[in-house]
Amino acid sequence: MSVSDGFVTGFGSYGAFRPWDGYALTVEHSIYVDAACRRHGAGRRLLTALLDHAARAGMHVMIGVISADNLISIRLHEEFGFAVTGRLPEVGRKFDRWLGLVLMQKTLDLPEA
Ligand SMILES: CC(C)(COP(=O)(O)OP(=O)(O)OC[C@H]1O[C@@H](n2cnc3c(N)ncnc32)[C@H](O)[C@@H]1OP(=O)(O)O)[C@@H](O)C(=O)NCCC(=O)NCCS
Repeated sequence: MSVSDGFVTGFGSYGAFRPWDGYALTVEHSIYVDAACRRHGAGRRLLTALLDHAARAGMHVMIGVISADNLISIRLHEEFGFAVTGRLPEVGRKFDRWLGLVLMQKTLDLPEA
């Protein structure tokens, strides 16, 4: 969670990618920062904290599922070493138009001792 002056300005979480044992070491995450609080580093801090937590928990891969038109988030994830490994065109529909998704993944570094 990202907090400023006692107010929640953003949150991040991760959970199981698929609910079967074979995928137990792969997680899917999401981050969100209040629109009024963006561009002050909260997104970077949330992503850093999630990656650190997941690596320490022994997770192997983190996956982000991002709207294909969300270039800001795609760029932020690339900066953190995520690579685009999948594209799902027209899988969603909102405001009378189709939405595609981009899958981005990162193999987690082993935490320093
Ligand atoms: C993506 C998101 C989490 C970034 O949060 P943030 O707090 O603005 O991120 P930061 O302040 O740490 O910025 C990180 C970098 O993202 C890029 N960025 C963020 N907002 C940007 C904007 N409006 N235009 C261009 N680049 C932008 C910049 O490279 C920025 O670094 P800089 O400020 O040093 O140039 C936020 O925009 C958001 O909540 N978006 C909606 C939800 C979402 O897309 N979630 C991600 C899906 S998992």
